[in-house]
Amino acid sequence: MISITPEEVTLFAEFIHARSGIVLNSTKAYLLESRLGPLLDEYGAKSFAEFFYAGYRSEEWEARVVDAISTHETSFFRDQRPFELLRAKILPEFFSKRQNGSKTIPPRLRIWSAACSTGQEVYSLAMIIAELLGGEMKRWHITITGTDISDVAVNKAKQGLYTRYEVERGVPLDLCRKYFESQGELLKVRHDLQAMTVFNKTNLLTAAPAGFGMYDIIFCRNVAIYFNQENRRRLFQTIADSLHSEGVLIIGSTESILGISDRFIRNESCNTLYFQKAGE
Ligand SMILES: C[S@@+](CC[C@H](N)C(=O)[O-])C[C@H]1O[C@@H](n2cnc3c(N)ncnc32)[C@H](O)[C@@H]1O
Repeated sequence: MISITPEEVTLFAEFIHARSGIVLNSTKAYLLESRLGPLLDEYGAKSFAEFFYAGYRSEEWEARVVDAISTHETSFFRDQRPFELLRAKILPEFFSKRQNGSKTIPPRLRIWSAACSTGQEVYSLAMIIAELLGGEMKRWHITITGTDISDVAVNKAKQGLYTRYEVERGVPLDLCRKYFESQGELLKVRHDLQAMTVFNKTNLLTAAPAGFGMYDIIFCRNVAIYFNQENRRRLFQTIADSLHSEGVLIIGSTESILGISDRFIRNESCNTLYFQKAGE
């Protein structure tokens, strides 16, 4: 493996931070060597500096570097409790408030999974909605938008194709039978769940997802941990701007917005914290 010098660490850490907001921690030299090493081989570069100057102006190179550095760890029904909160309280409340819609417009629900990685969070939400609404689902206009900075992750999410291990480690057997179909060795999400979803490549720190409209529920889990304070503030500002006044924000189980945003109030139900907009 090619070793990285301290100057090259700084060069890459600054570039990655500027492009994605990701702050590399103290293991950054090892992380850069192990995750970017295969790309150096592919580009035939003899050093990290040579690799950097060969590619840093290219969008494709940038996308591949950011993709290699970001952690895409996720799973279906990750941490379970937020999904139980949605199933038992938040979604039934939305559905009962909105069920009548208007004479011409069907009742609608819009959810955003910010930093959705390879899509498991989005399809977990879709399964809960399908279970709650059953045959009523056709009456509703439901959109779950998944966004991530990584092309590779977004493309996998769009396909909705997972290994048996990925599915079975998170999805209960009855839901697995109901919502996945075999496709060769893999399992594919059923088309009516996929029809609720939209996936886009979006950098949370530069794009304005509010341009996609306002959301009733926003999941933003396990991404702010990679950002510095200033970028966390920007992120939760964007989220507050994108959330309806009665909407709900769910963050990761080990995360906090205390001291980062005063635009939310904290609530708790089903042993899970969730946030709503403070009166504005
Ligand atoms: C650990 S995964 C979290 C996935 C999912 N939310 C969950 O909790 O299971 C973090 C994701 O954040 C994405 N990410 C990192 N920086 C980002 C940015 N600036 N904009 C959008 N997504 C970003 C990464 O590509 C990665 O897929």
